[in-house]
Amino acid sequence: MDLMINKASALSGKARVPGDKSISHRALILGAIAEGETHISGFLPSVDCLSTLNCLLLLGVKIERLSSTELVIKGVGLRGLKEAKNVLDLGNSGTTMRIMSGMLAGQNFSSTLTGDDSLKRRPMGRVIKPLRLMGANICAEDEGDRAPIKITGQPLKGIIYKTPVPSAQVKSCVLLAGLLANGKTCVIEEIKSRDHTERLLKHMGVDIEISGNEVCVRGGSRPKAVKIEIPGDFSSASFLIVAAILTEKSDIIIKDVGINATRTGLLSVLTEMGANINILNEKTIYEEPRADIWVKSSKLKALTVGGELIPRLVDELPIFAVAATQASGTTIVKDAKELRIKETDRIRAICSELRKLGAEIDEFEDGFAIHGPCKLKGNICSSFGDHRMAMALAVAGMCAEGATIIKDSECIEVSFPGFEEILKSLVKGKNT
Ligand code: S3P
Repeated sequence: MDLMINKASALSGKARVPGDKSISHRALILGAIAEGETHISGFLPSVDCLSTLNCLLLLGVKIERLSSTELVIKGVGLRGLKEAKNVLDLGNSGTTMRIMSGMLAGQNFSSTLTGDDSLKRRPMGRVIKPLRLMGANICAEDEGDRAPIKITGQPLKGIIYKTPVPSAQVKSCVLLAGLLANGKTCVIEEIKSRDHTERLLKHMGVDIEISGNEVCVRGGSRPKAVKIEIPGDFSSASFLIVAAILTEKSDIIIKDVGINATRTGLLSVLTEMGANINILNEKTIYEEPRADIWVKSSKLKALTVGGELIPRLVDELPIFAVAATQASGTTIVKDAKELRIKETDRIRAICSELRKLGAEIDEFEDGFAIHGPCKLKGNICSSFGDHRMAMALAVAGMCAEGATIIKDSECIEVSFPGFEEILKSLVKGKNT
């Protein structure tokens, strides 16, 4: 499917974005191994989260869908999952594969996990290595680094794991395996990654200790069923935020978005670049902070982004690159090599596609430099089947003269169902 975008003028009004993807995965997985009925509202019914949901159904968990965003999971407890009859196909979802591996490694049955071509290219050694240190029996393609992954459930032992990559998927995988292991399991990160798993475990009454960048759980500590209200996804909101900043005379409010500090690096960076962003009605529900985000058109100045900031905005770097094309001066992104192993090589994709629209960009191994402000002109762009690339390019198209066509835009369903409609509802006149 192609998405056609025309240059847009002012965005105005209020919008809501669908539920947070990271929290939706975790709510399902932890709800499944909890004791009792977990009630989830604000669930993201996107393709990725439905991969997690289907996988849990195949493992014998009963899930009642009250509506597309509200569901009840009948938790089976830490050791109540059943062996799936077939291979578990997780589609495009790296989060499902990595977190689920931890939960399956300590069960008393075998599981095989696979995914689409993109997922089969992504590194899995980062979770297989610590799981093997815990005693897990796991085989994978490409010397233990790629899916399909075959897990033969085993008794596990607790470890202290200093992770070489700041990755919430690795941290969550090891912590979940830790709940099934003997003794205490700790994960130490050099740079703190998103902490939704820790917050949800705490909300579910699990014995968890957090001190700086070290998180420990006790084997056998059982999550209890709870009520979970998932806020809007900050990563989805980021496309609307940048669209409003870059289009003239825009003034929008995005309601009830998750503003967990491990996720909102983009807000800090854009504010430093001169963006007019205000946080309203801040509150915390069940451990997760949320607020309304008020954004107006703004003139941006270039900035260098790297180091500890990267994990706080890793998913927002494609849309940040679009913002940088309109900033005055040279914006540099460094220390972001992780982008090369996302749903596609996002450094290459950002550089090639924004160049097609007329941006001046230099590509580095770990990032890029954008010389702004760039006059963009519509063209035909590839999404590379990557949801965040497709949406970032759609926003770039709103700043470009003429029409921009984004190929294979159906991948947007992976994280943001309704993206085009929400954008249209904010645009005055016939723009998209
Ligand atoms: C996620 C963690 C991040 C992020 C991904 C979702 C999660 O990946 O990029 O979109 O929900 O844990 P890494 O753990 O690989 O950094």
